[in-house]
Amino acid sequence: MTTPNTDGSTTAHRHWDEVWKTGDGRADWSTVDPWVADTVALLRDRKVRDVLDLACGVGRHAVFFARSGFTCWAVDASDTAIEQSRVAAAEAGVDVDLRIGPMSHLPYPDDHFDYVLAYNAIYHGDRDAVRGHVREIHRVLRPGGLYQLTMLSRRNHNHGKGIEVGPGAFVQPEATDDKVHPHFYCDAAELIAINEPAALLRAHDEEHSAPGSFHWHCLFELPEEAGGTG
Ligand SMILES: C[S@@+](CC[C@H](N)C(=O)[O-])C[C@H]1O[C@@H](n2cnc3c(N)ncnc32)[C@H](O)[C@@H]1O
Repeated sequence: MTTPNTDGSTTAHRHWDEVWKTGDGRADWSTVDPWVADTVALLRDRKVRDVLDLACGVGRHAVFFARSGFTCWAVDASDTAIEQSRVAAAEAGVDVDLRIGPMSHLPYPDDHFDYVLAYNAIYHGDRDAVRGHVREIHRVLRPGGLYQLTMLSRRNHNHGKGIEVGPGAFVQPEATDDKVHPHFYCDAAELIAINEPAALLRAHDEEHSAPGSFHWHCLFELPEEAGGTG
């Protein structure tokens, strides 16, 4: 059994590394989310070229973006995620720049991307850790860049379960999934606060496949004059 992490740091990749070793684990995360696919028209309108899939898992969205004609980078802290993303990109016949690295210190220079996707990614950790992940997105995005996130909603059925390791962040010591690692849950006001100074362009709070699994789905835009460390 995994030892629960109650110090608020971002350790969920240890769980995901084991998931990505199994065919069943990968199969659950192999289909492109239509909400992501629907963003491509906007990205084309905005003349987006360089995209990052942050915490890419086994590469479903990275491969999709590369196939759609974007220049694509992808990063994950799990070695197995990156190995499997490499396999997926080779099978699809596309180039994706794949790197192993943490969300807290992205292995890219400032102002490098036009768009970042972080799907079920940056809410791993306590509020400070999550704010650090957002700062990294702001740092690597160009001024005026777009980013698309899912965040755990306070309407999610797991909000409030287990030990509160910081405001809005919970660890479930008995869990057999990644909830033994800290997860941060937010309402609309917190969602906006944590992403300042980016502007929220769209958001909806919707269940994923499991009943009660509410996640925010949001699109943010950096101000033209900001960028940098945000
Ligand atoms: C729920 S999976 C989502 C994968 C992918 N975004 C997708 O939608 O298919 C979460 C991913 O976040 C990665 N992850 C967790 N903590 C991380 C960290 N601190 N730095 C980078 N990646 C991390 C995990 O390894 C895992 O691949």
